[in-house]
Amino acid sequence: MTRLTPIRFAALDLDGISGAEGRVAVTVPPEGTLDTAARRANRLTKGAIKRLVDSKRFEKAKSGEVISLAWPAGMAAEALDVLVLGKKDDAAAARKAGAALAQQAGDKPVHLALGNHRQAAALVQGMALRCYSFDRHKTGEEGEKAAPGITVMHPKPEELEAQAAPLLAVAEGVFMTRDLVNEPSNILTTSEFADRLEEMRDLGLEVETLEEDDLEALGMRTLLSVGQGSASPSKVVVMQWKGGAPDAAPLALVGKGVVFDTGGISLKPAAGMEDMTMDMGGAGVVAGTMRALALRKAKANVVGLVGLVENMPSGTAIRPGDVIKSMKGDTIEVINTDAEGRLVLCDVMWYAQERFKPVGMIDLATLTGAIIVGLGHENAGVFSNDDALCGDFLAAAAAEGEGAWRMPLGEAYDKLLKSRIADMKNVGGRTGGSITAAQFLKRFVREGTPWIHLDIAGVASVKEGTDLAPKGATGWGVRALDRLVRDRFEAE
Ligand code: BES
Ligand code: MN
Ligand code: ZN
Repeated sequence: MTRLTPIRFAALDLDGISGAEGRVAVTVPPEGTLDTAARRANRLTKGAIKRLVDSKRFEKAKSGEVISLAWPAGMAAEALDVLVLGKKDDAAAARKAGAALAQQAGDKPVHLALGNHRQAAALVQGMALRCYSFDRHKTGEEGEKAAPGITVMHPKPEELEAQAAPLLAVAEGVFMTRDLVNEPSNILTTSEFADRLEEMRDLGLEVETLEEDDLEALGMRTLLSVGQGSASPSKVVVMQWKGGAPDAAPLALVGKGVVFDTGGISLKPAAGMEDMTMDMGGAGVVAGTMRALALRKAKANVVGLVGLVENMPSGTAIRPGDVIKSMKGDTIEVINTDAEGRLVLCDVMWYAQERFKPVGMIDLATLTGAIIVGLGHENAGVFSNDDALCGDFLAAAAAEGEGAWRMPLGEAYDKLLKSRIADMKNVGGRTGGSITAAQFLKRFVREGTPWIHLDIAGVASVKEGTDLAPKGATGWGVRALDRLVRDRFEAE
């Protein structure tokens, strides 16, 4: 797994600032008052920061911006980065500012000299999140680039380190998700995916892998039907984190893990098909969230379940027109083999409810292209049967700066799934594609289970870098789900 860049916490001292190699960074609020760290850097540079603050340039400076002073006098560093950050800026702003700083630094080590900013820990998390690159398949120099390392100098380094620890645990979870989503499908097969999840036993998670004969015995025919054209075996992996009361029902997280989606017999066009390596994004977020919860030892019971399959066309693949019986017992007419995600999820969701009687269930899936048409790459689609749980999730996502937008459900959409020969079909027609997909899933949610469906097709992986991530996998959702668990499901 891609490791976090090494982060050291050290006492704030003048020698540390003057002797640091690479880049030194300080924060200055838009009004220009210097904290203890900035004052020291200012003294070393014979007033360079003060001159910047008094300049016209600084008048237009905005929070989150980095202004670099090159080859500063009185310092060994090659640059002094002045990060503009308001004293009252919130965690989201601090995270973003930290990411901007990390991006500016590139592969150079950073020595961040801080005063007593309230959001220092979030700032550090932002730096950690942006110091990510997926270069394991690049040979030569680029592939060998060492992690640059961050030193955080602070008046109370131990205190800050303790505050940052859970946030860095979450960043590690995000990195796991990004690695899984970025990994090509010849490497991240269903078996390799399961192996990587099983490794998380070392963190105190209980992990089981259900193999095809287990799934057959459970009656997960719809999930198995999606994988039946592939040489890779279908699997369901169950990860349990038991950090809460022994008798408390868990929150269930369910992820779509289609390691590659060709569309099957309803084959996708060639252009852009390579993007379907990320069709296991939902499972990736479930995995990363479980990792984060385990690393920070969350005081909650959470179970993560992922359905791992590959959707391939072959002589053994399901055909359009086939009728399959789900674990629940409902029959499904497969109109389009490319609407496979819902076929995977419906069985795993049913199994999750049968076995764990969860207090709530959240499924994540790169489910529809239609959600990208509707919401672009800024927001995931949120569908729910429970206003309270949904409201809490939306608040958690907003606090973490992860875009999420609630979409409607309703009887009229559900009707579009009517089949002539089976209980339902797997597609609803051309319009409202994300909603009919959600309606399909809703048929596998038990009366009384609060449920959220997150369609992350637009946000799991992006072609342009975001505030906190370089282009490629974002890890969207790990932070929001971790926060939801912290705010709603954790015992104090
Ligand atoms: N994995 C795709 C959805 C997707 C599209 C994810 C683009 C990420 C980017 C999903 O399995 C799919 O193929 N959905 C079809 C559904 C249709 C056949 C009803 C779609 O969106 O076209
Ligand atoms: Mn598909
Ligand atoms: Zn898919």
